[in-house]
Amino acid sequence: MCGIVGYTGQKQSFPLLLDGLKRLEYRGYDSAGLAVVKESQVESHKAVGKIEELQKDIGGKDIPGSLGIAHTRWATHGVPTEENAHPHCDCSGRIWLVHNGIIENHQALKDQLEKEGHEFQSETDSEVMVHLIEKFYQGDIAEALRQALYKIEGAYSFVVFHSEEPGKLVAAKKGSPLVLGIDDDGVIVASDVTAIIRQTRNVIYLEDKEMAVVEGGEFHILNWNNQTRNKEPQKVSWDLEELEKKGYDHFMLKEIFEQPDSITDSLRGRVIQEEGKVKLGGLDTVADRLSQVENLDLVACGTAYYAGLVGEYMLEEYADLPARALVASEFRYRKQLLDKGHCLLALSQSGETADTLAAIKEAQERNVLSLGVVNVVGSSIARTTEAGVYNHIGPEIAVASTKAFTSQLVILALLTVYWGRMRNMALAMGQRITQELEELPQKAQETLKTDKRIREIAQKYYQVSNFAFLGRKYNYAVALEGALKLKEISYIHAEGFAGGEIKHGPLALVDKDFPSFFIVPQDSVYEKNLSNMQEIKARGGPVIALATQGDERVAQIADEVVYIPKTLEMLTPILAVIPLQLFAYYMATFNSTDVDKPRNLAKSVTVE
Ligand code: F6R
Repeated sequence: MCGIVGYTGQKQSFPLLLDGLKRLEYRGYDSAGLAVVKESQVESHKAVGKIEELQKDIGGKDIPGSLGIAHTRWATHGVPTEENAHPHCDCSGRIWLVHNGIIENHQALKDQLEKEGHEFQSETDSEVMVHLIEKFYQGDIAEALRQALYKIEGAYSFVVFHSEEPGKLVAAKKGSPLVLGIDDDGVIVASDVTAIIRQTRNVIYLEDKEMAVVEGGEFHILNWNNQTRNKEPQKVSWDLEELEKKGYDHFMLKEIFEQPDSITDSLRGRVIQEEGKVKLGGLDTVADRLSQVENLDLVACGTAYYAGLVGEYMLEEYADLPARALVASEFRYRKQLLDKGHCLLALSQSGETADTLAAIKEAQERNVLSLGVVNVVGSSIARTTEAGVYNHIGPEIAVASTKAFTSQLVILALLTVYWGRMRNMALAMGQRITQELEELPQKAQETLKTDKRIREIAQKYYQVSNFAFLGRKYNYAVALEGALKLKEISYIHAEGFAGGEIKHGPLALVDKDFPSFFIVPQDSVYEKNLSNMQEIKARGGPVIALATQGDERVAQIADEVVYIPKTLEMLTPILAVIPLQLFAYYMATFNSTDVDKPRNLAKSVTVE
């Protein structure tokens, strides 16, 4: 996730900016940069990679100046390069800006600004804003920023200065956080309070559509209509580690709770609900070839493979596109009948998984079109595939994947509409799916309310040695994912089964010490699931069930029921997995395991 730090005051800004950048490292980033001004002269440095690379570029000296801005970038538009790193400046080299978030209408603005003679140095959406400010600038940087804000759409925060307005820093936000740290000697502006608390614990959080103008040690907060907002600083009492985890005990829990936002981020700017269509800019270059695709291989590992399994059902049912999910590590060892209409879609959070990369290369050698659904911009898989869709969910830090899984499912649903509408999907179906997708963030929020109930259930079962997870159709993969989450972080043996399979062997395991977690929403396989639950109950096995809100029948069979909101059948996995993630999390914490870094596992698996 990008990070912002800015300072103006009586101290030297450079050491404060550098310290602030280091405090933001935990959020993940791929490049960094800063700009410091002294007597109208700006010195700027940028580097790809870690802050140490930036320090090397600076050459171990101090940069003089009491005003400056700095940024860690997590690439969204444009790969990690020095040109794309922030701060960005206007054509005159006097206005400098750092930006977090996304400017959705950046392309239209850029086209217009280019026509008006502005020259761009980067591929970023952020640079559009600095040229827009330049366009409106008439001697007051705050006023120019205010006018530019009315032209942009999206979620963002900015910190900006003009090198000829000494000591003046301006900031604004909408949908992306910004906080002021108020010191006796000056003011720090940052996207995250972690970058501030070494200097001061007196902070003011900006609200959406607020601006701050900081000059001569004074700050002035106003709304976008230029009306003053009187705000008093408040004291931060949390320590650094608590702040990085935003008060959650573990990154995994934080990431589970981020899902309403990460789902929103993956959908942002991609849905055209009235037309029942989706817009995926990353596929534009291959759009013609996509209409020729006759068979799709969804290739991935672990959790991402389970997302592929759900995608297989979505694409076949709604886009009439024959699809199969394949474990990437097996792909090369199987005789692949890859013909002209074949396409490979790799799913990977890290974009670095060696097995997935190897499968892509194998397919490419056979002239198969390769696409990626990747979270880390500029990663190996993002670079190797011919086109793709980014998750845009920020870094996932806990080893166990949570928000990446739900985001992958969201993107697979978007791809289903994308391909479906190219093939036979009716307008009404496109509209229905996109409408349900837009309702998902709020339903995910609702689903997170199961937290307390799940914790109670985990407290009851955390000492068991084995667990089964069962589901059918779309939720078969969710059963597999529930089992994987539980085993990897709690070390309790767990297996996922397709409900219909239990009679073919696994039923022999069932007794009073072998609980089963059923995913049983009211969908097309509901009755079949109920029968499987009965089979387990009849053999004395405890049953926990995940059911649709309002369902009373499940409660008559199961020992414990957890309810999730109703949604379209193909989207149920996105909600159903959330209580299973929470269940694994609480089972692990009751067993005192290292939740964020489970033994023997790595976040990015770069060996085959
Ligand atoms: C499980 C988990 C792993 C990853 C797998 C693929 O919680 O995180 O199973 O899903 O290693 O990783 P990516 O998505 O980075 O290719």
